[in-house]
Amino acid sequence: MKSYIKGMGTYVPDRIVTNDDLAKRFDTSDEWIRQRTGIEERRYAEEGIGTSDLAKEAAVRAAADAGIEIEQIDFIILGTLSPDHHFPGTACYLQPKLELAGVPCLDIRQQCTGWVYGMTLADSLIKTGPYQNILLVGSEVHSHALHFDDAGRDVTVIFGDGAGAAIVSPAPEGSERGVLAHALHADGRHADRLCYRLFDISRIPLADAEYLESVENAWPYMEGRHVFKEAVVRMPEVVREVLASTGHTIDDIDLLVPHQANLRINEYVVSSLGIAPEKVINNIQRFGNTTAASIPIALDEARRNGQVSQGDLVCLVAFGAGFTWGAVTLRL
Ligand code: ACO
Repeated sequence: MKSYIKGMGTYVPDRIVTNDDLAKRFDTSDEWIRQRTGIEERRYAEEGIGTSDLAKEAAVRAAADAGIEIEQIDFIILGTLSPDHHFPGTACYLQPKLELAGVPCLDIRQQCTGWVYGMTLADSLIKTGPYQNILLVGSEVHSHALHFDDAGRDVTVIFGDGAGAAIVSPAPEGSERGVLAHALHADGRHADRLCYRLFDISRIPLADAEYLESVENAWPYMEGRHVFKEAVVRMPEVVREVLASTGHTIDDIDLLVPHQANLRINEYVVSSLGIAPEKVINNIQRFGNTTAASIPIALDEARRNGQVSQGDLVCLVAFGAGFTWGAVTLRL
């Protein structure tokens, strides 16, 4: 038995924030951001709107696209690094918004690789469990926890808010559609290179004023060059690994959907793999890095704009904080 994507949905907030808008708040420029990251604009949620709110909208759209009622969803997997609360998991806040009390739900905390880990888990649950319609959603509201100051500008310019979702179901019998293979990795030796230490409450009391005085503790911290160097090696490596496991080659791929961390990272990955740029989707220019939501948002866009069709071989690949990285191949 295979699992396949029965339907998808995207939701991004209406509010567009351009590079020039950011340049009014701290020392940066449209030119610097475009040149280093490819980003032109991103979306920000309004105050009071959280990750589970965006996730709900994407979920409703995915269910409609799949042709199912919300009450047919029988498992919820939610990837995020910007949870509604430190605990419990954000899936527990999403579930009642969908009126799905009793349905099992869990958070995946694999950051930018969250949706790829989630797809792997959904595939396994379909193969081993009784589930028919798993909601897999990546959702992020980064904008409420970014440092709009010169000291935080390297991180702040990169991230945007948004959500993308899929309904993952058992593939119709005899269909070529469905997940073919996955490859997952992590190397926690790099965990402190890209992290958010504010909620280190198991080690440091939250009220420790001295601890919070450090910008590195109070705001997301990123060693950008180190992340860049690892990403451009790990992403091509894991694409080759996942293809080899089913005897496919780079030429077999109809669409590569890389995590949208930085357009320059993806350009390196594309040239290193030797894949034709028209077989790759990038939309970071309009949404920034939406972490766990970036792959479903990009894949959904490719489905809707005709860049990919039913039965095409799609490869999803991500790299993110942890470090975590992974790839999935599927026939759409
Ligand atoms: N605007 C203007 N100047 C800036 C900004 C900014 N937003 N941010 C940093 N600078 C300055 C720095 O202060 C520095 O100035 P200095 O030379 O006077 O000291 C200069 O620009 C160069 O800074 P670097 O950090 O060395 O810039 P770099 O060329 O490495 O680019 C960037 C930074 C874009 C973050 C890059 O390292 C990168 O893309 N790394 C990958 C990280 C990434 O994509 N993370 C995404 C999240 S993780 C994930 O999804 C995988």
